[in-house]
Amino acid sequence: MMGMINRTIDWVDARLPVVEAFRKHMSEYYAPKNFNILYYFGVFSMVVLVNQLLTGIWLTMFYSPSDAFASVEYIMRDVQYGWLIRYLHAVGASAFFAVVYIHMFRGLMYGSYKPPRELVWIFGMLIYVALMAEGFLGYVLPWGNMSYWGAQVIISLAGAVPYDMLPFINDAEGKEIGEALVTWVRGDYLLSEATINKFFALHVVAIPLVLVALVVLHILALHEVGSNNPDGVEIKQTKDENGIPKDGIAFHPYYTVKDTMGIVVFMAVFLTVVFFFPDGGGYLLERPNFEPANPLKTPAHIAPVWYYGPYYAMLRATTLEFIFNSKTWGLIAMGGAIVILFLVPWLDRHPVKSIRYKGWVSKLAMALFVVDFLVLGYLGTQPATELKKSIAQLGTIYYFAYFLVVLPFAHRFEKSKPVPERVTGGAH
Ligand code: HEM
Repeated sequence: MMGMINRTIDWVDARLPVVEAFRKHMSEYYAPKNFNILYYFGVFSMVVLVNQLLTGIWLTMFYSPSDAFASVEYIMRDVQYGWLIRYLHAVGASAFFAVVYIHMFRGLMYGSYKPPRELVWIFGMLIYVALMAEGFLGYVLPWGNMSYWGAQVIISLAGAVPYDMLPFINDAEGKEIGEALVTWVRGDYLLSEATINKFFALHVVAIPLVLVALVVLHILALHEVGSNNPDGVEIKQTKDENGIPKDGIAFHPYYTVKDTMGIVVFMAVFLTVVFFFPDGGGYLLERPNFEPANPLKTPAHIAPVWYYGPYYAMLRATTLEFIFNSKTWGLIAMGGAIVILFLVPWLDRHPVKSIRYKGWVSKLAMALFVVDFLVLGYLGTQPATELKKSIAQLGTIYYFAYFLVVLPFAHRFEKSKPVPERVTGGAH
């Protein structure tokens, strides 16, 4: 039996280098031995991606864009285990953002975007943008009342761009371009079945293809340069006589086994939410979305799901009326908040990689950044009041200050700790 399996592997390997690929990416991929708990979140993202793809395929078997709301109710009530598949997918969306946010924050903490890992970060950011688009498109599909009004708000943003900034375009023409674009995105003069059909195609085929391709590129780019670690020490700088990093251990079997244990714990937490709190108290599945879309009934408060909260808070916070109107400034703040993340590898000029060895200015600023992001996230899901708007304005200013002032200049105002030559923890 083993002989037959080995002969089959040899046969395939002579035609496609699977053994070589396994060796390069698994059994002879040496990862730092000092990974901490935060290093589970890459593999958790992969688990959630697979969950979304599988449950998404099953939902597509029963969902119908021409009868959107009713077909989701049909899935929930009549399709065998339809409720489970739908909740795995809907809660999976929130889980995706939760694990990706922690994964990104880990990158910020340990300077994992710094040379030579800039491309790993850039692919990660492209994944993040694709994920945001995917989440928005998916949210519209059940055609609940928040799907409708959320889509109304977000699609209208395409009309808020000041196209009259372009040469030879006057104010009236700028507005016309905006309106034409909004109609184009909707595929109709109003949000309609044409919009759902279009979003369905993008959500089910186009963006998932892009996401999977980007994840492959993300991992290939990572394996080319090797993983960073909580100490920010380059393990490739200290190799043994066989050219193997002294502080590295083979990804397979060591990390495959360790990751499996992490996945079990993650699944226990994820499934607890799926089975017992699938709507997350209105934060994971918003209450107005249990009612069908109704163009005549605007929800008392149109709010995005929690994971867009920080950006929505920034969009609403702006009151500036200078050169552009405040809506355009909101759009600039929201777009800029994402664009700036792409630039992190070049904005961070600190000579030290990991937060462990940076000084107190960096540490305090990073802790404040976490609080800031969480507060903005909360404000984005709440009805606006004058006080909340002022807090969101301060939060927006700090968000940009963190990237434009702290990352480039903090090292000038603090004393770093000496960075060790080898990773810490465990025997060498
Ligand atoms: C579908 C989403 C994603 C998946 C499946 C994914 C997967 C992974 C995996 C498996 C690793 C190696 C294990 C680990 O270090 O945790 C990794 C590393 C990394 N990822 Fe992601 N990732 C995703 C999104 C992102 C995003 C949005 C960013 C940031 C913008 C990002 C930035 C990084 C960085 C910088 C590393 C290297 C970390 C280090 O070596 O310290 N990833 N990713």
